[in-house]
Amino acid sequence: MEVLEAIKTRRSIRKYKADPVDDKTLEAVLDAARWAPSWANTQCWRFIAVRDSEMKKRIADTLSETNPARDAVTNAPLVIVACAELGSAGYKGGELVTDKGDWFMFDVAIAMQNLALAAHSLGLGTVYVGLFDPQKVARLLDVPDGYRVVVLTPLGYPAETKDPRPRKELPEIIFYDKWGTK
Ligand SMILES: Cc1cc2nc3c(=O)[nH]c(=O)nc-3n(C[C@H](O)[C@H](O)[C@H](O)COP(=O)(O)O)c2cc1C
Repeated sequence: MEVLEAIKTRRSIRKYKADPVDDKTLEAVLDAARWAPSWANTQCWRFIAVRDSEMKKRIADTLSETNPARDAVTNAPLVIVACAELGSAGYKGGELVTDKGDWFMFDVAIAMQNLALAAHSLGLGTVYVGLFDPQKVARLLDVPDGYRVVVLTPLGYPAETKDPRPRKELPEIIFYDKWGTK
């Protein structure tokens, strides 16, 4: 699938078929994440691919009952949990060098978007899940100190088609030469 087509046709998928994702396909999706750019190529991301049904259920229980992605975390054949090593992105010589603190959220987000687009191009669905209890998930998955659980996504074959959600029009978000100049 061509990149612009993948960007425009990806949707958040919250209903999944039970069909498994084979190892080669999973590896292709994870490999796309690996090729993301990162702060000074520090690659702070780590990914945990969860297949175990009981663990998926426990992770789903860390989402609130009203989170629309909750069932998907249990039902999809896989859940990818993205973690980040702290203290690398945004640092030089051990010191923070920008006004934004640790850049781990930024680098993990880029990697996850690579993953989501690659998954979509291979016929798989994803939905970013940010509203859950990351500390509980870290404990469930034995994530060590110095790392944060950032975001997760179910991964599997979609059992729904979705219309696009609305986006702001370009003139609402783009300025030329200076803030405010359309
Ligand atoms: C950082 C982030 C966190 C999100 N967290 C959740 C979530 O907890 N539950 C959920 O159902 N969707 C979540 N979403 C999905 C958004 O609702 C979705 O991307 C947005 O409505 C646009 O729809 P689309 O992805 O189909 O284009 C999240 C998306 C992002 C980028």
